[in-house]
Amino acid sequence: MKTILDRISKHADAQTERGAVASYIPELASVDPKQFGMSVVMADGQSFSVGDAATRFSIQSVSKVFTLALALGRLGDQLWSRVGREPSGLPFNSILQLEHERGIPRNPFINAGALVVTDAILAGHQPREVLGELLRFVRAAAGDDDIHINKAVAKSETEHGARNLSLAHFMQAQGNFQNPPEMTCGTYFHQCAIEMTCEQLARAGRFLIGATGPSLISQSNVRRINALMLTCGHYDGSGEFAYRVGLPGKSGVGGGILMIVPNKASVAIWSPGLNAQGNSQLGTEAAEKFAEMTGWSVFG
Ligand code: DON
Repeated sequence: MKTILDRISKHADAQTERGAVASYIPELASVDPKQFGMSVVMADGQSFSVGDAATRFSIQSVSKVFTLALALGRLGDQLWSRVGREPSGLPFNSILQLEHERGIPRNPFINAGALVVTDAILAGHQPREVLGELLRFVRAAAGDDDIHINKAVAKSETEHGARNLSLAHFMQAQGNFQNPPEMTCGTYFHQCAIEMTCEQLARAGRFLIGATGPSLISQSNVRRINALMLTCGHYDGSGEFAYRVGLPGKSGVGGGILMIVPNKASVAIWSPGLNAQGNSQLGTEAAEKFAEMTGWSVFG
């Protein structure tokens, strides 16, 4: 495994086309695009890392996996009356489909869907309680208490949050929002601002490995979350990721990818330059190389 990671890292270092770092907030725009890190944690806990795997980055939309796990645990199938389970085929922050489909987002990983998930776990709780619960979950999953929210990123997200607020307001108008849009969006911005290293994220992902990994959620929810990661985890790049990599993955605009090899391993990859769909350019290439070199795929 170490040899595989070394080869992937060497390949990544040699690439000149690294995509563009997210520019909508200064904290992400100023991240050095030359960085690349990757960690693999096996079901038995053995781990391997390469490159900048110990550097913290903004997990952004990767957080949607953890909030979905909390929401499914708390609400079960009730959640699906408010959000769908189909790929959207549109950018992560698209407004277009939401009006057409009467305020029910296509899936829990596009922004509108993730806002509904956060809105659902907020019900009857204060944002600080929900964020506390989320951090406890992520820290327990990672076996590491040194995981925090970057306050400056959360503040910046709030200052540049008009588009997410508009999604939330539209869903409120359609009767698919329970809390004030500012409150849910504020909570969502803080969840996106969690920072982790590849080492921490790969550890935190172990609960999604399945029967052979640690059990924090039910086995049926492990399967469901992996199915959604495979079909929706990379937005309008999800089909391409499934074709090229063949493993469930969830990306974030900070350049992170959490990828699960069912029954075998949890993998975190980070490189901040993004492709046209807002997914890590080198991260996606590394995921493809990893699948090729290990022969691991959910498709046999
Ligand atoms: O809500 C947003 O737009 C960002 N905080 C997170 C979006 C994101 O990570 C999309 N991923 N590629």
